[in-house]
Amino acid sequence: MGHMDVSASDTVESGSRVKRLRSATAAAHDQLDRRVMAGEPFASLARYALFLQVQYRFHTRVDPLYRDGALGPVLPDLDGRRRLALIAQDLRDVTGRVADEPKERGDAIDPVAGLGWLYVAEGSNLGAAILLKEARKLGLSEGHGARHLAGHPDGRGLHWRQFTAALDRIALPGDGEARAAAGATEAFRYVHRLVGDAFGG
Ligand code: HEM
Repeated sequence: MGHMDVSASDTVESGSRVKRLRSATAAAHDQLDRRVMAGEPFASLARYALFLQVQYRFHTRVDPLYRDGALGPVLPDLDGRRRLALIAQDLRDVTGRVADEPKERGDAIDPVAGLGWLYVAEGSNLGAAILLKEARKLGLSEGHGARHLAGHPDGRGLHWRQFTAALDRIALPGDGEARAAAGATEAFRYVHRLVGDAFGG
C-alpha cells in the first residue's frame, strides 16, 4: 500500500477525470448490468437476497476507503455515504438473519486506486434508482429491505455531482491518474466475480 499525497487543487483541468473513468469502464458497466439482470435478482425475495450478498461483499471491500484519513479531506461527506450498514439491515429484513461475516475481505486498497473504487461504489447509487423500482414490486422499500438503494434526501443527482465535482478537483501527480482508472476497472471486475459467485455460472 503506497504512500499517497492527495490534495484539492483548482489548477488541474476539471470536469474531465470522471468522464474518463466513465468511458474507461463503460463496457465493464454494461457487462455487469447484463450479468446482474440475467441473474433475475427481482424474481423473488430469495433471488434478491443473492443480490444483497453481492452488495454486502462489495461494500465490505470498499468500506475502509470511506474511512480513509487521506480521502476524507478531499471528498465530501464520505462517512455519510457509507452503505455497508444499510445493506446488512436489508439482509436482515429479507432473510431474517444477521449477515454472515464475509469469507474474504480482500487486500487493502491504496487511496489512489481507491478513488476509482469509490467512483464505482458511488456511481452505482445512480443505477440504484432503477433497482429500487424493481424492488418495490417485491414489497420492499427504503424502510425495509431496500434501504441501501434509497437516494440521498438532497436528491441522487445532486449528491452524485457533489462527489464527482470533488473527485475531479483532486490533484493526482505521477501515475495517479492511471492508478485511479485501474482501480475503477478492478472494482467492476471484482463485482462481476461476486455476481458469478452468488448467482452461479
Ligand atoms: C452492483 C452493480 C453495479 C455497479 C457497481 C454499477 C456502477 C455504476 C456506476 C459507476 C455508474 C455511474 C456512471 C457515471 O455516470 O459515471 C452507474 C450508473 C448507472 N447504472 Fe449502474 N452499476 C451497477 C448495477 C446496475 C444495474 C443492475 C443497472 C440496471 C439494470 C444499472 C444501471 C445504471 C444506470 C441507468 C446508470 C446511469 C444513471 C444516470 O445517469 O442517471 N446499474 N452504475
